[in-house]
Amino acid sequence: MAEVVIVPDAARAGAIVADEIVALIRRRPDAVLGLATGSTPLPVYEALHGRIDGVDVSQVRGFALDEYVGLDPAHPESYRSVITREVVEPLGLDPDRIRTPDGSLAGIEHAGEDYEAAIEAAGGVDLQILGVGTDGHIGFNEPGSSFASRTRVKTLTRRTREDNARFFDTVDEVPRHCITQGIGTILRARHLVLLAFGEGKAAAVAGAVEGPVTASLPGSAIQLHPHVTVVVDEAAASRL
Ligand code: GLP
Repeated sequence: MAEVVIVPDAARAGAIVADEIVALIRRRPDAVLGLATGSTPLPVYEALHGRIDGVDVSQVRGFALDEYVGLDPAHPESYRSVITREVVEPLGLDPDRIRTPDGSLAGIEHAGEDYEAAIEAAGGVDLQILGVGTDGHIGFNEPGSSFASRTRVKTLTRRTREDNARFFDTVDEVPRHCITQGIGTILRARHLVLLAFGEGKAAAVAGAVEGPVTASLPGSAIQLHPHVTVVVDEAAASRL
């Protein structure tokens, strides 16, 4: 059973998770962080900013969960750009130690395998930050994704593209494909920390934490993991 922490607001959630990450880096200077994009983890990155002074982060490694396919890595909404802007630069991490899946069309055939090998070579992820989609997706593993899946190319659902359209000018600009760590990849991280805020996430959170374990709600896979922390505000916890 996941440990569920209900907090008054996203800032408090960010502080709790940031404290956990700082403690991890102090214990293990070359810690491997599993980084997530989307709006949910931003309070964590902001809180880290205020806490990382005096902590040696030069050895910290990181792997992003996912990336759009076919979007120029220099595009401001590529997950490479987002991770650089929100995490790498403000926290002063070494960009060469932070990887995102290669979503370029040229390398796509081997990108999944290469990414898995890189995570493996790093010794696996110590702490994986997770958001959850309104349909229960984690990473970009949409409903129906196998719990054994590894990093691979997936097609985004209309709903996810609409949810993410706010980062683009129109929904048509949201790429149709992505490359994402699989649910099986995510489950191999040693500690999963899932965050969610707002009423819109309440059904996904309830399904993930206490619904049936089913591929129809990918987040429910966290119930198979021995070390999970779920940090949610009252609204996201309202259906628990
Ligand atoms: C995106 C990301 C997920 C993220 C989810 C929720 O599709 N690929 O990793 O968890 O959407 O996004 P948000 O945190 O903005 O609600």
